[in-house]
Amino acid sequence: MKILITGAAGFIGSRLCLELIKNHNNKVYGIDKLDSYYSKKLKKKRLIELNRKKNFKFFKIDLKNNKNFKKLEKLKNIDKIKKLIKILSLVISINLS
Ligand SMILES: NC(=O)c1ccc[n+]([C@@H]2O[C@H](COP(=O)([O-])OP(=O)(O)OC[C@H]3O[C@@H](n4cnc5c(N)ncnc54)[C@H](O)[C@@H]3O)[C@@H](O)[C@H]2O)c1
Repeated sequence: MKILITGAAGFIGSRLCLELIKNHNNKVYGIDKLDSYYSKKLKKKRLIELNRKKNFKFFKIDLKNNKNFKKLEKLKNIDKIKKLIKILSLVISINLS
């Protein structure tokens, strides 16, 4: 399954990514703008751990900026989206398949 996680460098998003990549049938795409609400260093550390896995791919994208969506054009046939960013203030799962 191809899964898109927003807020992937965050507290919940990074934990969720780690769980999902344990299943090698999953391909996990993480998106985060790496905001400075708290330590960026901590977020980068989380991404280093995630990037060690072949079935994880990170995109530094600010979802408020439309130009960034071009980067997402590569991501086709996503099965699930988990949004974990504060601007949306919710944790939601949308099954697109
Ligand atoms: N941590 C908790 O205990 C808890 C409990 C209930 C609800 N929540 C909610 O769950 C969500 C995630 O919580 P968290 O603790 O992981 O927060 P977090 O701040 O650790 O993670 C959120 C991530 O979203 C990224 N982000 C913010 N705006 C973005 C944008 N425009 N584009 C791309 N990335 C963006 C940030 O850089 C950050 O890394 C939040 O909405 C929070 O309110 C958290």
